[in-house]
Amino acid sequence: MTTAVDGKQLLRERLEGLRQIPTIPAVLTPLLRYLEQPVEKLDVEKITNFLAQDKSLAAQCLQMANSPLFGRWQQVDSLHGAVVSLGLNHVSDIAMSCGLLKMLPGEKTGIDPIVFWEHSLGCALLCRRLARNINLHDPGKAYLAGLLHDLGIIVNLWLLPDEFGEAFEAARSEGIPLHETEQRILGFTHCDSGRLLAERWGFAPDLVEVVAYHHAPQASSQDVALVSLVHIADLLCRTGGLNYGYVEARQVNLSEDAGFTLLVRNSEALRKFDWARLSFELDSYMDEAHRLVRTIYRG
Ligand SMILES: [Fe+2]
Ligand SMILES: [Fe+2]
Repeated sequence: MTTAVDGKQLLRERLEGLRQIPTIPAVLTPLLRYLEQPVEKLDVEKITNFLAQDKSLAAQCLQMANSPLFGRWQQVDSLHGAVVSLGLNHVSDIAMSCGLLKMLPGEKTGIDPIVFWEHSLGCALLCRRLARNINLHDPGKAYLAGLLHDLGIIVNLWLLPDEFGEAFEAARSEGIPLHETEQRILGFTHCDSGRLLAERWGFAPDLVEVVAYHHAPQASSQDVALVSLVHIADLLCRTGGLNYGYVEARQVNLSEDAGFTLLVRNSEALRKFDWARLSFELDSYMDEAHRLVRTIYRG
């Protein structure tokens, strides 16, 4: 078994030496930055221009715009028309999901890419909803943070596919969180590897923290509220049927959760938040994430 120190050393060396580490599709970095703004400041023309730079992304958006999933009855044949027709929120969902999907290794891995992106997208939708409702954060930023929080899983799939597969199988059979078995088997977690990649890609410091500390929000120093928000959304997804294809066998009591306590400290609105209602809504987010990801994959 690898010790924690060996594991982190090994991780660093492998990451340095790996030539085929996934690169973020070129258009996504500026698009990511652009989408950090509040939605009312976003410009359709500008988003159309970003998408036009990547032929396969543009084609995917056109295809989605014409998909019955979005209830279209008229043929959309321009990228601009697709952006208008889908709406800015859906365009960014599709662009980010398609772009990031390309980064998963092609060969068979232990984790099903569909369930991985369902988890990420479900978490993103939930982060945006929570952020809006508790008036805590810019919803666009919260959405991105939710979408990218498990970036390290992609890194682990590239770096140590066999060992990661073993950690994933152990987590699934024991019904426990993945980061616990990663620590035990790899000596590091997807938070450690995700952090290295997020830094290498030049993510903003608060997004780096989300990737690094979403399983330990108390360790964050840049933006405790954002990290805690993602932590809670992730927890709700993992225990609410939107995990990586298995169910964690543990009861979650939000009021005893470290991230929840941190968030309550930052938000008056959270104390009065209607959690019972949210749990009903959670199902519709799950459906939305399922539908979107499966349509993108079948496309
Ligand atoms: Fe995670
Ligand atoms: Fe997660």
